[in-house]
Amino acid sequence: MVEFQQIFQVPAVVQASAPGRVNVLGEHTDYNEGFVLPTAIPQHTTVFLSYSPDSNHHFYSTNLNEGITVNPAASPPSGFARYLDGCVRVLQQAGYEIPPLNGLVTSTVPIGAGLSSSAALEVAMLRGLRSLLHLDLTDVQLAQLGQQAEIQYAGVHCGILDQMAASLADPEHLLFLDTRSLDRQLLPLPAGTELVVIDSGVARSLASSSYNQRRAECEAAAHLLGVKALRDVSDPQQAERLPAPLCYRARHVITENDRVLRVLTGLSAGTFGDLMNASHASLRDDYEVSVPALDALVALLQTTPGVFGARLTGAGFGGACVALGVKGEAGAIGAMALQRYAQAGYHGHVLVPQ
Ligand code: GLA
Repeated sequence: MVEFQQIFQVPAVVQASAPGRVNVLGEHTDYNEGFVLPTAIPQHTTVFLSYSPDSNHHFYSTNLNEGITVNPAASPPSGFARYLDGCVRVLQQAGYEIPPLNGLVTSTVPIGAGLSSSAALEVAMLRGLRSLLHLDLTDVQLAQLGQQAEIQYAGVHCGILDQMAASLADPEHLLFLDTRSLDRQLLPLPAGTELVVIDSGVARSLASSSYNQRRAECEAAAHLLGVKALRDVSDPQQAERLPAPLCYRARHVITENDRVLRVLTGLSAGTFGDLMNASHASLRDDYEVSVPALDALVALLQTTPGVFGARLTGAGFGGACVALGVKGEAGAIGAMALQRYAQAGYHGHVLVPQ
């Protein structure tokens, strides 16, 4: 890559990419050891690596047009470099010797849209390190290391959804994943459908603090119900015994897991869409992670001709929405929904189809 050579005066030795993801069903279930259903999106992140000429890492982001030198012996950096440096540190914790690096990142995954730009960066970096240093690591291990980098160095106490999707999903399939056992299956979309993904234009705010709070609420609910994780409860009635707001949080997780499991039975587009609509209502009313812009965009999508169902995707508090539409009509659906969204005073943009 010309840019790498210009910045570091040496060619890159390896390059590796990983995609962003859109989660189609199964939100806030992963850290409850439940079920998720992501797919990869065409947008991706690429990392180029070579060896550093000195004892420091030198990282550069073409998107931010910003470079940073990181002393591996000093405290971790902030900004984009924390993900790269975090991957190095988790590998070191796992016993691997990692030399000082030159690293350049370039990405088409939008940041803050709930499409896992950070997991794409972590998995691309870990893939790059695996190939540079010939590390004997599986794709699942890469996802687990990426999750550790996110938890320890980005401060988000996340589950494994995003990193497993970045490491194992492809854009042609849904990745059904049991986040407890990591058993997985690639599934087709319902016959005659394709996905539409629209960025609401509202950046996620308070995302990490509210996210960590939701996670703590779920752990408290599981503890009160006497189970290891909310995954172990399948009857939503059981949640009624809990005090508010734990009863609502638990009800979302229990019903959401059930929605994902129902997909395994092979659903029609209409039934699948109904489950997406129910998921959004549950995220809005029980889990309380929606915001007015997302509710407006979802409502517009749900009433756009050719749409079977729509919901917010990702952690919530802003970011993107996903809809299931008639195959061949995703472009028209996206354009129509966006026009109506603009009339309502918002400014989003279509991410899928590209
Ligand atoms: C974020 C987290 C994931 C998952 C989703 C919500 O993307 O990183 O682990 O919890 O939110 O489903």
